[in-house]
Amino acid sequence: MSTRSVFITGAAAGIGRRTALLLAERGWTVGAYDIDEAGLATLVDEVAPLRGSVVTGRLDVTDADAFAAAVTDFVGQAGGRLDVLVNNAGILLAGPFEDSSAADHHREVDINVKGTVNGLHAAYPHLRATPGATVVNLASASAIYGQADLANYSATKFFVRGLTEALDIEWKRHDIRVVAIWPLFVQTAMTANMRTGTTDSLGIRLKPEDVAAKILEAIEPPKPRRALHQVHFPVGFQTTALTLGSRFSPAWLTRAVNKRLAGH
Ligand SMILES: NC(=O)c1ccc[n+]([C@@H]2O[C@H](COP(=O)([O-])OP(=O)(O)OC[C@H]3O[C@@H](n4cnc5c(N)ncnc54)[C@H](O)[C@@H]3O)[C@@H](O)[C@H]2O)c1
Repeated sequence: MSTRSVFITGAAAGIGRRTALLLAERGWTVGAYDIDEAGLATLVDEVAPLRGSVVTGRLDVTDADAFAAAVTDFVGQAGGRLDVLVNNAGILLAGPFEDSSAADHHREVDINVKGTVNGLHAAYPHLRATPGATVVNLASASAIYGQADLANYSATKFFVRGLTEALDIEWKRHDIRVVAIWPLFVQTAMTANMRTGTTDSLGIRLKPEDVAAKILEAIEPPKPRRALHQVHFPVGFQTTALTLGSRFSPAWLTRAVNKRLAGH
């Protein structure tokens, strides 16, 4: 079998970069794509001593044609296979909904929502041609219940959640698993200057390596979890507790807890 390959968007920084490094350490051929070319250049240097290899390229995930061309080019360089797509690129607007312009909200939808759709379309023929392929979508704990002061962002992650669940069922017939990763706040550039009621009450505790490790676990789940067909992978104790809580508590209580956590 040739080396396994993974295409990661938003791979120049944060969670995407950590995931690229983790898989390169394990010998994968990594396609690292981002709009941040300077960040990709330093990633190439970091991957150089590792077992795996990296192919990088500039890609804005909102450009569907460029996305398709980038994936096709990468698969050509990766021996004709695409084992995993990680739809990771994303942006976050924090604060009162009305303080961000409609254009900024649209941009968040374009990247987080349409970028994910573009990735799925671009990768589909290659995933289908590769036995046992997996799509990993970055959802978020903000898709458990709508998050005050992250309203539009939170809604984009509900989209990712729904798309993941539906496609995982649809694409079973093509031997493609589709899973979602659910971190709470992670210490990356995304949260560096962010302060909301929820970051105050829950803190920003996770590190990008925690999420990268969960992505690896989702790609290679232990046998029992594969048998149970786990689709959602919460990261860390807080997200797991919030997910379980929302599943078993009545709607009014879930709302009250979320209102309280958001400081509203
Ligand atoms: N940081 C968190 O607290 C957190 C929590 C839950 C989920 N997530 C999700 O994890 C993913 C990664 O977040 P992160 O914290 O690593 O963010 P980050 O800001 O550290 O990195 C995001 C990367 O995406 C790239 N990017 C932005 N727009 C792009 C575009 N149009 N095309 C291609 N690349 C683009 C950026 O250049 C950057 O390198 C996102 O989908 C985010 O929503 C993050």
